Formats: sequence, structure tokens, C-alpha cells
Amino acid sequence: MVDYSQNQLKQLCGEYAYKYVEKDMIVGVGTGSTVKYFIDKLGQNPGLIKGAVSSSEATTLLLKQYKIPVYDLNSVGEPDIYIDGADEINHHLQMIKGGGAALTREKIIACASRRIICIVDESKYVMKLGKFPLPVEVIPMARSYVAREIVKLRGMPNWRSGVITDNGNWILDIHDLDIVHPIELEQKLTAITGVVCNGLFAVRPAHELVLAKKDGSIEVIKNKFI
Ligand code: A5P
Repeated sequence: MVDYSQNQLKQLCGEYAYKYVEKDMIVGVGTGSTVKYFIDKLGQNPGLIKGAVSSSEATTLLLKQYKIPVYDLNSVGEPDIYIDGADEINHHLQMIKGGGAALTREKIIACASRRIICIVDESKYVMKLGKFPLPVEVIPMARSYVAREIVKLRGMPNWRSGVITDNGNWILDIHDLDIVHPIELEQKLTAITGVVCNGLFAVRPAHELVLAKKDGSIEVIKNKFI
């Protein structure tokens, strides 16, 4: 049996996600190398959907290249579906996102959408979140204050130097977190003044996970808890 490369698996689950798309939908579109394969597939039939809501400047550029109409979230209300990758996802379909620094717009669209579909390769499906450093978007002047508050939560913040988000902010990556209660941690981080958003998607997890397994098969896992 030949194992597939991680890129091939990203392509498999990215293209599989096209099955969720129906005529005239408003589709929320995430950011990253996995969802790029979904966009490529969607781009083969750009007239199918009414349009997309984009989570980053990079995704907007791709959507526009395929002539897919891109709408402001405020003008569409509730997108029918949100499709995105993740850096880690657990068995409750709670996620860590933001490896590509797009977490804030991603979380806004995910929360506003009717259903969230996560697409990942098997290496990102974990028992416990936290091996992947947790990204936190901060207002620049609050960086060191927020970092000190994070240390009180027993995390090791690391400034992702040189990275400026689409919103003009900075990213702290929190290492060494033992994430036993993802919802509580998400809420605690959200409550720190100066934090714009954190990369835990636990209060609102995914509804379905499209998992590309290393033998090239796809498993669809539905969230039994919501
Ligand atoms: C972007 O900020 C992230 O949330 C991505 O969705 C996540 O990092 C997954 O990216 P890849 O699909 O490139 O692995």
C-alpha cells in the first residue's frame, strides 16, 4: 500500500468539500493550502454559487481570479456554509486555526455561517489540542501586556515577528499549552484586553469533518455534540 503525501491528502479533502456546495449558495471560504484545492474545484464552475465571503486578502485574490463574486459579510447575512482547513482538530471537532494568520476573519465567518465544514489530512486529527502553537491576534501596542497575561495562563507566548495580519495587527503564538478545557481557554483568551481574536474554535466547533486518511480514503465525521 502506498501512502499519499500530505499535499495529495489536502487535495483529496479540498476537492471532496465541493460536494457540500449547492446552487445559489453563499459560501464562506477559509484560507490556506487545503482550502486552495477547494477553491480550484469551485473555480471550474464559478456560476454555481451566488457568491463567496472571503476570510483573507489571499483567498479574495484566488476567488476573483476564478471570477467568483466576493461579498462583504454585512451584505449577505448568514452564509449557508463555511469551508476551511485547520491546524489541529480534536474529536469534539474543536479546532486550532491561524497558522496562516487569518484567524480573525475566519472565526467571524465561521460564527456567522449556518454550518462549518473542516477539511484536514489525518496528521491534524488529534486527541488533545495544543501541540500546534495557538495563534493569538493582538493590537500591536498590547503585545507585551497580552504576553504577560498569557504567561499567567501557563503558556509560552512567542511573537511571530515580521507578520502583520490583514487587519494590521500582530500574532503571538502560544507554545506549551496543555489544553484540557478548550472552551474555557478560548473564553479566557478572548477576555484579555488587547486580544483581537484567538485561534481556538471551540465555543463554535465544526459541524462536520472531512478527513483525508493516509491511504487516500475519505472519512466524514459528524459532530455528535452539537
Ligand atoms: C489560516 O490562518 C489557518 O487557519 C488555516 O486554515 C490553517 O492554518 C490550515 O492551513 P493549511 O490548509 O495550509 O494547512
